[in-house]
Amino acid sequence: MTGSAHAKIILIGEHSVVYGHKAIAIPVFDLTTRCTLKEDQENSVKSTLHTGNFTTLPETMNPLEKLVDSLQETYAFPPHTHTIESNIPIGAGFGSSAALATAVVRAYQAKYDLKLDDGALFKWVQYFERLTHDNPSGIDALTVIHDTPFVFSKEEKTALPMHLDAYLVIADTMERTPTKESVAHVATFGGEGFFTPLLNRLGALSEKAALSIRKNDVPKLADHMNRFMEGLRHLELSTETTDRYIETALERGALAAKLTGGGMGGCVIALTDTPDKAKSIEKAFVNTHNAPVWISRL
Ligand code: PMV
Repeated sequence: MTGSAHAKIILIGEHSVVYGHKAIAIPVFDLTTRCTLKEDQENSVKSTLHTGNFTTLPETMNPLEKLVDSLQETYAFPPHTHTIESNIPIGAGFGSSAALATAVVRAYQAKYDLKLDDGALFKWVQYFERLTHDNPSGIDALTVIHDTPFVFSKEEKTALPMHLDAYLVIADTMERTPTKESVAHVATFGGEGFFTPLLNRLGALSEKAALSIRKNDVPKLADHMNRFMEGLRHLELSTETTDRYIETALERGALAAKLTGGGMGGCVIALTDTPDKAKSIEKAFVNTHNAPVWISRL
């Protein structure tokens, strides 16, 4: 019995969302994680990261053990072999950990006909996310569970259907900083006078971006994304590498280019209004940086 979940990417609003502002996240359907269950004598995992029973798990996989233990204890499920297959890059802002947790819970849900509504599923995924990151906002859990884009804040979770004349080109810089570290880095600005006004400006840009999406105003959306990127630069979340990727995209005619997710590496996204331009930006990312690239219709 198999459960699966897709990836997500943040269009705008990363980091300020941790401080209560809005962010917009979209599903990425080309990237998925699947978990297949087989009842067994003891719990084990089969994956590219590790294969073996739970006593042999590396520390990074302890949250998986805790999630499975907790599910089995709560619902009196027997031990299983968990076969994990995924093409979601890890630690690149695609919500790979939330997708893993969702796939695991959905696999048990399917196998045992477990009635869990989206709220209950969200709680399980957030339980796993808390074990994986400090203080996750919940944006990953929400977006990997649902098939629609979302406007997300601690107070508001509203589906934001998108039918834009626009494409998002996503490129992985292969540079990695754990989100935990970038969130901690942003928190170090907390004492300074410019922090709250900057967060307020970022929050306002995300709200305006949601409005532009509702009006299918792609140039305005691009403008808000570019300004947001400026704010992320003030928070020292860009690196030489991400700056080079952003430059590549803008040189190829992207309307906007920015970091996505935790930053200090990870992925860069470029917004464009035609499939041809998206293809040309993709080509530039591959030729100039040898980057893995995905294109999403918005
Ligand atoms: O790196 P990601 O895609 O998991 O995104 C993190 C987004 C942050 O706003 C930086 C943190 C959070 O929990 O919302």
